Amino acid sequence: MDRKQQIQYSYHALGGNMANFYDGLITYSTPIGKIMNQIMWGFDEATTSKWINYALSGIPEHFSGKLLEVPVGTGVLTMPLYKTLPDADITCLDYSADMMANAQKRADLMQISNIAFHQGDVGNLPFPDESFDIVLSLNGFHAFPDKNKAFAETYRVLKKGGMFCGCFYIQGEKQRTDLSVKYLLVPNKAFTPPFDTKQSLQMRLENMYSHVKFTSVYAEGIFKCRK
Ligand SMILES: C[S@@+](CC[C@H](N)C(=O)[O-])C[C@H]1O[C@@H](n2cnc3c(N)ncnc32)[C@H](O)[C@@H]1O
Repeated sequence: MDRKQQIQYSYHALGGNMANFYDGLITYSTPIGKIMNQIMWGFDEATTSKWINYALSGIPEHFSGKLLEVPVGTGVLTMPLYKTLPDADITCLDYSADMMANAQKRADLMQISNIAFHQGDVGNLPFPDESFDIVLSLNGFHAFPDKNKAFAETYRVLKKGGMFCGCFYIQGEKQRTDLSVKYLLVPNKAFTPPFDTKQSLQMRLENMYSHVKFTSVYAEGIFKCRK
């Protein structure tokens, strides 16, 4: 199995039997999710809503342009937002069909029709250059096997002046997260090294983009910038 297949295998379970566990963990909304979130990330309810709100704040109210979300995962963070954007043209992509099936189910239940789903690799996006006004990436770069390709592809498909925003794990900010990543998430192929630090991510974004706004909540690096 190559690395991409290993990652897909790992997210097969998280998108299948464990989808409720995953959603509860990421949104701090189930008893087990809260406990695991505190152990691994040190978040509570307030810090969870802080990073989620900041990570989604690059998307304007009433946005009506073209948005790419990669990776969409189970869509637990974004489908409620997309419900409020009926005039946007939304494209979602993920390598794991299992994770994405949950997002599709959510979109159907919420009757979101201005949305398309693609199974694919962020390192080889099936879209022309400069085709999106916003590229949103939540908690993906720590999972992607080839981070340089992922940065290059998300940049390529973004229009000039477009917004690149999102969040992901940064190393060296919270010891319990670094240990969870090292001993649990990397061995299970949910995360793939090497990882950015706060400084390396900020520098990387500033080298590629303008108007970089960068912050962090514990080990979550959160950014908004313009091409
Ligand atoms: C931690 S989840 C994040 C999902 C969602 N954005 C969220 O915040 O809940 C990471 C996702 O990255 C996807 N992924 C991993 N490697 C990928 C790749 N090369 N291309 C596209 N998606 C990938 C996985 O399938 C998984 O759904």
